[in-house]
Amino acid sequence: MKIIRSISSMKKCIKNERKKGPKIGFVPTMGYLHQGHISLAQQSVKECDVTVMSVYVNPTQFGLHEDYKKYPRDIKSDAALAKEAGVDYLFVPSDSDMYPLGFSSKVIVSNVTQMLCGASRPGHFDGVTTIVSKLFNIIEPNTVFFGQKDAQQIIVIKKMVKDLNIQLKIKALPIVRDSDGLAMSSRNAYLSKAQRLEALSLYQALQKAKELIGQGECNSAKIIASMKRLILRGKSVRIDYIAIVDAEDLSFKKHIKAKVLIAIAVFIGKVRLIDNLIIKV
Ligand code: PAJ
Repeated sequence: MKIIRSISSMKKCIKNERKKGPKIGFVPTMGYLHQGHISLAQQSVKECDVTVMSVYVNPTQFGLHEDYKKYPRDIKSDAALAKEAGVDYLFVPSDSDMYPLGFSSKVIVSNVTQMLCGASRPGHFDGVTTIVSKLFNIIEPNTVFFGQKDAQQIIVIKKMVKDLNIQLKIKALPIVRDSDGLAMSSRNAYLSKAQRLEALSLYQALQKAKELIGQGECNSAKIIASMKRLILRGKSVRIDYIAIVDAEDLSFKKHIKAKVLIAIAVFIGKVRLIDNLIIKV
């Protein structure tokens, strides 16, 4: 595996690879890799001839008072894990290369960025779509792998790709969880032992919703109330949102029908965690 630290050398490598005509798979990440990220890399290795993974903590997708500065970073461990997964190129660009002095462009997707995480984190998705567009332009992948963990991010990026006629396929892979159900996240590293136990309530609330829907409950407000009760048992918990929305356009659903996305964002202490479940009725 080659570690590439500049846009120009990344482009050179891709140009050389392209001459051989391979299918290029791409996995964008912010690093501090765990099995969730690795599952995406492994799928890319399976499906594509060349796999590029990026590790870049993108400053523009963090709000002013969010955790950009203390976001966990460990490039040594990331490189070891990526290599083991079969990644060919690990792209680790610098801030000055990605956002040089005078950088003044933004890619903005409207509508599907306004609710859920978009409402709680204004500007977050503008940062995501801007950096992801840059990465797509640098790597020109055939297929890009994203995790269902960030359900809204996938919808936003799919919309951008469609609207801007970007030539690539997007694959969404299932959420990877610890054995007790907690969705893997780089931010889990912030949790104390007690907080980690409280964090289990996200998954438990989603399971509760699934159970209620299975029993025939289709009133979203009732399901959300029951999820809230379960989550609020935790001492250090603050609910950001619990929402039941259409799984395609994210519009709020008063009644469960067809394919819904049940999405949660919760603060455990200062740590903001998200989780979700798609249910087809
Ligand atoms: P990051 O949070 O590092 O996530 C990178 C990719 O890994 C995303 O597609 C995310 O959905 C996926 N992922 C994270 N946890 C997962 C889990 N438990 N199971 C399955 N997949 C999981 O998402 C970002 O970075 C950034 O916004 C990025 C797209 C890289 C742009 O900066």
